[in-house]
Amino acid sequence: MSQTRIESMMDEKRLFEPPAEGRETAWVKSMEEYEALYKRSMEDNEGFWAERAGTLIDWFTPFTKVLEADMDTPSIKWFQDGTLNVAYNCVDRHIANGRRNKAAIIWQGEPDEDVKVYTYQMLYDQVCRFANVLKAQGVGKGDRVALYMPMIPELAVAMLACVRIGAVHSIVFAGFSAVSLQNRVQDCEAKVLVTADAVLRAGRTIPLKKNADEALRECPSVTRVVVVNRANANVDWVEGRDLWWHEQMKAPGISGHCPCEPMEAEAPLFILYTSGSTGKPKGVVHTTGGYLTYTAHTTQWVFDLKDSDVYWCTADVGWITGHSYIVYGPLALGGTTLMFEGVPSYPGPDRFWQVVEKFRVNIFYTAPTVIRSLMREGSEWTRKHDLSSLRLLGSVGEPINPEAWMWYHEHIGGSALPIVDTWWQTETGGIMISALPFATPLKPGSATRPLPGVDARIVRPDGTDAQPNEGGHLIIRKPWPGMLRGVFGDPARYKSTYFERFPGAYEAGDGARVDSDGYFWIMGRLDDVINVSGHRMGTAEIESALVSHPSVAEAAVVGMPHAIKGEAIYAYVTLSADVEETEELRAELRTWVRKEIGPIASPEVLQFADGLPKTRSGKIMRRILRKIAGGSTSDFGDTSTLADPGVIADLIEGRVDLT
Ligand code: PRX
Repeated sequence: MSQTRIESMMDEKRLFEPPAEGRETAWVKSMEEYEALYKRSMEDNEGFWAERAGTLIDWFTPFTKVLEADMDTPSIKWFQDGTLNVAYNCVDRHIANGRRNKAAIIWQGEPDEDVKVYTYQMLYDQVCRFANVLKAQGVGKGDRVALYMPMIPELAVAMLACVRIGAVHSIVFAGFSAVSLQNRVQDCEAKVLVTADAVLRAGRTIPLKKNADEALRECPSVTRVVVVNRANANVDWVEGRDLWWHEQMKAPGISGHCPCEPMEAEAPLFILYTSGSTGKPKGVVHTTGGYLTYTAHTTQWVFDLKDSDVYWCTADVGWITGHSYIVYGPLALGGTTLMFEGVPSYPGPDRFWQVVEKFRVNIFYTAPTVIRSLMREGSEWTRKHDLSSLRLLGSVGEPINPEAWMWYHEHIGGSALPIVDTWWQTETGGIMISALPFATPLKPGSATRPLPGVDARIVRPDGTDAQPNEGGHLIIRKPWPGMLRGVFGDPARYKSTYFERFPGAYEAGDGARVDSDGYFWIMGRLDDVINVSGHRMGTAEIESALVSHPSVAEAAVVGMPHAIKGEAIYAYVTLSADVEETEELRAELRTWVRKEIGPIASPEVLQFADGLPKTRSGKIMRRILRKIAGGSTSDFGDTSTLADPGVIADLIEGRVDLT
């Protein structure tokens, strides 16, 4: 994050009291109530979580053991002798409890006329049918199913169908390339892949099955591919492997009922790959009872979700935000969740506000990058629509700069609505640090206080507690039900990434400080992870994609401040001997990364460099590269260990400006 943004946050003194309207009926009504809940959750951690899990979730077999945890090994078990089923909690029980005809999912397709509404009863029918389709293809408890799909309702149906029969889904964001999909499918050895013919995006039809076909050339574990017809696009067909979704759902013998598999609380629920600072993406594993408890709990308290609300989280289900806050959290509570296929800017920059007006959305949860890009289009777009149904706003994915916060507050929130700035991660399963909307006074740019149950601290590199306002490592001391339980197939990496550096605690990888009021200010990643538009990218991943190109000898990737995206990708590339630096090659390398990883990983800037700043032992000094990418021409700190200090001047001279 840029220095100016950090400084402007350090200076932030404004305080916004929670609105009086809505307080009386809020799940948490005051700061006193928050403080009491927090205190209790720290003093009687197990009691607190047992109560939440008992209240929010229907268990087939109630648990008697709340927690068995050892953060050193690490081994974390929540509610371990309980059994439950997530699809039962997200669908079946609402049919029995009076919500049968309530809208579970309102789906708005990219064309405005494409709307589908699934009541809980209809969702039950679809989920059971697809669960039966999966079973008919030999999928059973513990098997992995990869989902590579656009934002269509079949994605939510497929997720719930998997968890109904105890299969473990692994969703791969549809914007990822064939190579990325292949890596993920190979890693988790999925048996079935569910995809669609194409994705509709900003008026274009982008082939999707084509990528899947390419990926599956080297994925022997996949025996069946189920294809949704989203766009009537032409597809190649592999007889004996490929099946149409719509045909299977109506096939003889596929009934609209399917029993829920009783699952142990610690049975894996899903795998979701996320970028780390080294090596290939990690398959983060979440489990059944803890994850569901945590997402239901946070959806209820942070979004204050009520039965009458229309709730809209604009994320893609391919990321953790979509898993937890489009599908599992809201459906566990019997809520109405809006699922949106389009983009914020098409057909015009008022698309989001038009959708808010159309469905009278009450709760709206989006990302700072979206706010910044819409802010740039001007507030006249927001005034074209009646936004009076909104009662609560949320933000996630990266720190929200105070300017964007104020714009969101004034132009979307009518200077009255609470904004919950929610800090969390793929690994945490759900929101960890956030305001409670009708209790917490807000400071623009701060995620405010840890939620009850969350023992968040800032520590120095040596593990001792930081003082107020002293920046340090954000760690979580006590286990919480939504925390990851593993890195798929790699227990050593699970331990070394999260639990080794600060014994007995979970290390988030973020830098943060706590001010004298106990408010948390997240300062960004401390590792080599870049946050582009709220999406995590590992620099090592992009570098390895670049060096796999025959013309590239070496590459170093860093983040640079970007007005809309928060951070953008800046790549330094050293070409192989005798390869000429041309604009064509620059363009080719950017396309290469798109193909290797996906469009989100394509470098914003690619600078050819004859040499990189290396220490005498050969280590690249990224600190220097980050400074040059950010526009610095001096103050590089200690450069005495550089093998060739002259490299810095050359790099400054060759710097590419973003225009
Ligand atoms: O750096 C933090 C940032 O996003 C990272 C987690 O990324 P991911 O696992 O992809 O999950 C994103 C959605 C939960 C964190 O390590 N981050 C997320 N939310 C915030 C944030 N940084 C500051 N403020 C936030 N509200």
